[in-house]
Amino acid sequence: MSPVKPASWFKSFGLALLLSVAWSTSAYALDAEQRRSRALLEELCGRCHAVRTTGHSPNPLAPAFRTFGEKLYDTDMVARLEEGITTIHPDMPTFRFSRREAAAAVNYLRSIQKNR
Ligand code: HEC
Repeated sequence: MSPVKPASWFKSFGLALLLSVAWSTSAYALDAEQRRSRALLEELCGRCHAVRTTGHSPNPLAPAFRTFGEKLYDTDMVARLEEGITTIHPDMPTFRFSRREAAAAVNYLRSIQKNR
């Protein structure tokens, strides 16, 4: 009813904040697309998973993204993100990535793996 939507305003503000923090504090070389993916993953997955190269997952059962390692190469993670995250694990409400977003997200995830 009301023309003002606090929830969506807050969401864009939060995303803008995440993006600016990502840009100003990036300690290592991520390209612009990897930084966008990190912001997207932090928004969607960050309440359970550690998305960056440091820090613990808020949900102790959720593996930190930087520990995925071979999983990102052995399975077709791009297709799994595109099909919807419920094919990865049931705890997560369905969220589908576009092909471009999925490819960029996997690119970011590969870039933060500890041994690569
Ligand atoms: C509500 C909490 C929650 C959210 C939000 C969440 N996850 Fe998870 N995730 C988990 C838990 C818990 C596990 C480990 C248990 C499992 O595999 O079911 C997990 C495991 C995973 C795995 C490993 C699965 C495997 O095949 O070994 C991947 C990949 C993953 N999550 C990706 C994501 C991505 C990408 C997002 C954001 C789009 C996300 N998760 C959001 C809780 C979450």
